[in-house]
Amino acid sequence: MRPWTNKTVALGVIGLICLIVGSLLSCTWRVIFDGILKKELPLTPNSRSYELWKDTSKLPMNIDFYFFNWTNPEELRVPGKKPNFVQMGPYSFVERRVKVNIVFHPKNNTVSYDQMKYWYFDAKRSNGTLQDKVVNLNTVAVSAAHTIRYWLPVMQSTLSFILASSKIYVEKTVSELLFEGYKDEIISMSSMVASDEFEVPPFDRFGWFYMRNGSTFFDGHYNVATGQEDLSELGIVKYWNYKDTTKYYRSPCNVVEGSAGEFWPPNPPKDDVISIWTADLCRPLVYEYSEEVMHQGMKGYKYQLGRISLGNNTKRRYPHEQAKYFEKTTTTEDFFSAELTTPSNINNNKSKNSINKEDDPDVVNIGQCFCNGECTPMGLINITACRYGAPGFVSLPHFHKADPIIRDQVVGMNPKDEEHNFYVTLEPNTGIPLDVAARLQINILLQPSLTVDFFRNVPRVYFPMFWFNFRGGTPDNLAWGLKQLLTLPSTGLYTSLAMAILGVVLIVIVIIIQFIRTSSPMTGKSRKIREANGTKTELVYMDTTTSLDDHERSDRPLRPKD
Ligand SMILES: *[C@@H]1O[C@H](CO)[C@@H](O)[C@H](O)[C@H]1NC(C)=O
Ligand SMILES: *[C@@H]1O[C@H](CO)[C@@H](O)[C@H](O)[C@H]1NC(C)=O
Ligand SMILES: *[C@@H]1O[C@H](CO)[C@@H](O)[C@H](O)[C@H]1NC(C)=O
Ligand SMILES: *[C@@H]1O[C@H](CO)[C@@H](O)[C@H](O)[C@H]1NC(C)=O
Ligand SMILES: *[C@@H]1O[C@H](CO)[C@@H](O)[C@H](O)[C@H]1NC(C)=O
Ligand SMILES: *[C@@H]1O[C@H](CO)[C@@H](O)[C@H](O)[C@H]1NC(C)=O
Repeated sequence: MRPWTNKTVALGVIGLICLIVGSLLSCTWRVIFDGILKKELPLTPNSRSYELWKDTSKLPMNIDFYFFNWTNPEELRVPGKKPNFVQMGPYSFVERRVKVNIVFHPKNNTVSYDQMKYWYFDAKRSNGTLQDKVVNLNTVAVSAAHTIRYWLPVMQSTLSFILASSKIYVEKTVSELLFEGYKDEIISMSSMVASDEFEVPPFDRFGWFYMRNGSTFFDGHYNVATGQEDLSELGIVKYWNYKDTTKYYRSPCNVVEGSAGEFWPPNPPKDDVISIWTADLCRPLVYEYSEEVMHQGMKGYKYQLGRISLGNNTKRRYPHEQAKYFEKTTTTEDFFSAELTTPSNINNNKSKNSINKEDDPDVVNIGQCFCNGECTPMGLINITACRYGAPGFVSLPHFHKADPIIRDQVVGMNPKDEEHNFYVTLEPNTGIPLDVAARLQINILLQPSLTVDFFRNVPRVYFPMFWFNFRGGTPDNLAWGLKQLLTLPSTGLYTSLAMAILGVVLIVIVIIIQFIRTSSPMTGKSRKIREANGTKTELVYMDTTTSLDDHERSDRPLRPKD
């Protein structure tokens, strides 16, 4: 017999190929997966995510509004009485975001665009109608009184005169308060005194979302990194309204930074924060890592709004390199010129390792530069500068995580973490947001005014006006695809290991076959013996069933007949 047949040679070659490919793949699989991500994740006109990013109508996004009805406005000036609030809602809307004027800049791997948002009322998910009446603080009057604090006395008394005919509270429908807006005499007056010095809102009506439906005006112009060259830049806002700084906060709190909200760089840090540029507040919000969660069957890192954004004494280290970068390119201010916590100048970087946090020139008290002067207790974000001087303060709903002092000024707040927490859950390998719950409450600061009679003896209270709960995430069909993608590294690893093992097994089989063939030429004879034995055993079996008591007869055939 020939020692090698065509079949065994082929088997051996296949085994060898399996072994080589399998072991190569198992070593390089992670690299291949990263290569796939590097190709799939960046935002380009041809990328998978492009259409969804451009028009989010296929993504599940909704926003619920809750209003606070002020039930005892007549008791405002009664000592010992606190304003009492009853929550109304939700008034639920489907949100759709559409990006327009999209221009890709391959030279610097960014994309520029404007964003429009549309809202569609969802009666089924709402508790009430848009015609429900809500009583709350007269925001226009309070804002006017606040804005004119530094005006000439004669103008202040004019406003006092107008205010004398209005009330400290208004009763409006949800529709008027949100999108429709309502007319007010003070708005008409203030538009006449508008000047460079006194910036007034360019609107003829007041409503929290008045004119926002379908407008590009409010979100501003974005220039965002596509991540094509560097995935760690994916989705990061580079310029907002054509600048890398804003005029609303002091340096370095004026720096434009953070994700635009749709994309985050892959491998988000567990030991650090992530930030999101929030156009409505004219500033970034910083989220702190809290825990690992499972969402739609995938692992996610959960980040939430906490002390760093809500506190008034947050120190943060800005990398020295970044400092230089901002100093060079900003058109408005020097990065450090206005800084309180930088005793030495930034070029003095000798013995950098030995300096402690207080003296580190790169550590900045961002809690204070976001205060814009007077700080608030923990839990409030001052957006006065971003809102044409209206005393607006953002907090978590029901003053969740805020200093209890704030909550104690009013009655009816009932913070619950699962309902009022603000969080983002990111899939760690891709940075894709799996689950987003953006919840914020808008408050107006009412404070006594010495010059405007109308406000002379009111208490100083942060008035809760309304809050919203924005929910977004990955729809189930996309989550399924993402899950398949994420199993690739382990599937790939196991497949390639299985391939390598199969290769080894095949090679071993070939070797054994060859060994048997070359060492025992008598194969034919031994098979015959085995066959003969088989027939005998069968006979025995038949014997026992027919005559169990005849031991001699059944025993005899067991002995091989050699
Ligand atoms: C809202 O408050 C007013 C009093 O300020 C009250 O008359 C009205 O019934 C309240 N509405 C609801 C829905 O609670
Ligand atoms: C609906 O709103 C009313 C007050 O306007 C409130 O008492 C009730 O609990 C709300 N229902 C739900 C399901 O939220
Ligand atoms: C990228 O280039 C475009 C066009 O020249 C420019 O408008 C944009 O500001 C640049 N962005 C960055 C981050 O340099
Ligand atoms: C917003 O605009 C869209 C389209 O113009 C319209 O269908 C929708 O009803 C509007 N939403 C609100 C709340 O006015
Ligand atoms: C809020 O910001 C405004 C202007 O940006 C500032 O005048 C005010 O002092 C700040 N703090 C409070 C508590 O109003
Ligand atoms: C800063 O926040 C803390 C904690 O809420 C508070 O005790 C302190 O008074 C705040 N500082 C200012 C200046 O308001």
